[in-house]
Amino acid sequence: MGETVIGVIGGSGVYDIDGLENPTWQTITTPWGEPSDQVLSGVLDGVKMVFLPRHGRGHTLSPSTVPYRANIDALKRVGVTDLISVSACGSFREEMAPGDFVVIDQFIDRTFARDKSFFGTGCVAHVSVAHPTCPRLGKACHEAAQTAGINVHQGGTYLAMEGPQFSTLAESKMYREVWGADVIGMTNMPEAKLAREAELCYASVAMITDYDSWHPDHGEVDVMDIIRTLTGNAQKARTLVSQLPGLLGRTREPCPHGCDRALEYAILTQAPH
Ligand code: ADE
Repeated sequence: MGETVIGVIGGSGVYDIDGLENPTWQTITTPWGEPSDQVLSGVLDGVKMVFLPRHGRGHTLSPSTVPYRANIDALKRVGVTDLISVSACGSFREEMAPGDFVVIDQFIDRTFARDKSFFGTGCVAHVSVAHPTCPRLGKACHEAAQTAGINVHQGGTYLAMEGPQFSTLAESKMYREVWGADVIGMTNMPEAKLAREAELCYASVAMITDYDSWHPDHGEVDVMDIIRTLTGNAQKARTLVSQLPGLLGRTREPCPHGCDRALEYAILTQAPH
């Protein structure tokens, strides 16, 4: 049995944690460079929580320039065991409407201009990401969202695109009709893959801000519309986050899905004889 430390990577619209006791901003250095910002640590309902703004406090980092490896490493270094990603996304499903939240359980990774692994030079490892999110943590996020009165969908496939431009109409239709993606965003990959390599339980809560460009009644995606929907929903996301300590508790058993042991059979590099 170990101590639970909940990490939250907040996206657009979520820049801290409500009700945090003894909040302290702290600089963490990592061998992978500087994280997006300092991390905010404190205690909520007796559980240690650590928050990191993905794009920095002034929203200065684009999805392609977020230092994903430094972020995950910094959170691991401060002891995070359970990591929740909060981010905005577009929807490919009529029934997943702007203002709804989705607890993501699958990804299609179409990003290409980001460092995606901690391994490769000196040490070679291949972790499984067949099930890239932690079902236990995802369930807690779903319950937290329901308690917060959020219209939430349990399970969905998130297409991670490079950006920063939004998709063309042809891409949007292909992701939706041919590839079967449910939502689209620019930040959850390689974050989820790196969290697995760091043996963290990872869950992603995506807030729907728009219908991307496929929907005949909704036209093109527009940043102003996204910001309006985000601003209207940021408080819901914060309420969701504040439910998590009560649901996860102060102590934790080893992850029943093995997220915290992901490297056990993944490393190929041999120790020198
Ligand atoms: N983030 C929010 N809406 C998005 C969209 N339609 N495409 C990519 N990222 C997004």
